[in-house]
Amino acid sequence: KTPEVGLGQSPDSIAEARDQAADCRACPLWEPATQTVFGKGPEDAPVIFVGEQPGDQEDIAGEPFVGPAGKVFDQALAAAGIDRSQAYVTNAVKHFKFEPRGKRRIHAKPNMSEIKVCRWWLDQERRLIAPKLIVALGATAAQAVLGKTVTIKATRSKLIDLDETTRLLVTVHPSYILRLPDEAAKERETKAFRADMALVLETVPEL
Ligand code: URA
Repeated sequence: KTPEVGLGQSPDSIAEARDQAADCRACPLWEPATQTVFGKGPEDAPVIFVGEQPGDQEDIAGEPFVGPAGKVFDQALAAAGIDRSQAYVTNAVKHFKFEPRGKRRIHAKPNMSEIKVCRWWLDQERRLIAPKLIVALGATAAQAVLGKTVTIKATRSKLIDLDETTRLLVTVHPSYILRLPDEAAKERETKAFRADMALVLETVPEL
């Protein structure tokens, strides 16, 4: 079943897609959120990084990966020698889903239906940008790209052909590293994440 995005026409550019997505009402997440957080980066980017959904800070800023997870992401890119401004960065779900707790807004996982409906936007980004590589940051992103549930364990660090021109690389979500309880695990996982970013550059040297 095709999701009812309610916006009809496929956009001709990322700018047009962003404008359309600003008014998206295809799932209930738009209402409590501040704004749609669409992807950011050049339309001819060779790589698309896909996260899960905007967090609290992204919801306010209107840009993906500007909060604590974004910092881990930026540091890993820098360590690998990747210039973030050359890549397109987006999320599987484009509104912040949260539960209010006092004055705080606690991140809530997007469900299957929200991921499915929002996939329409991800498909538009993929079509318009036509990247050589898509990097799924975490299982939700991998699920959104592949259209099926996969585990990080089974798919991580492998180059998967999506079609003749685009490959997929699955890695962990930077928030996973932030949530690790002990320093040794954090250090180990930071290294592994940075190794995946190095693989990104190795796969797409023009990045
Ligand atoms: N986590 C995500 O998955 N995406 C963001 O943009 C920020 C945090």
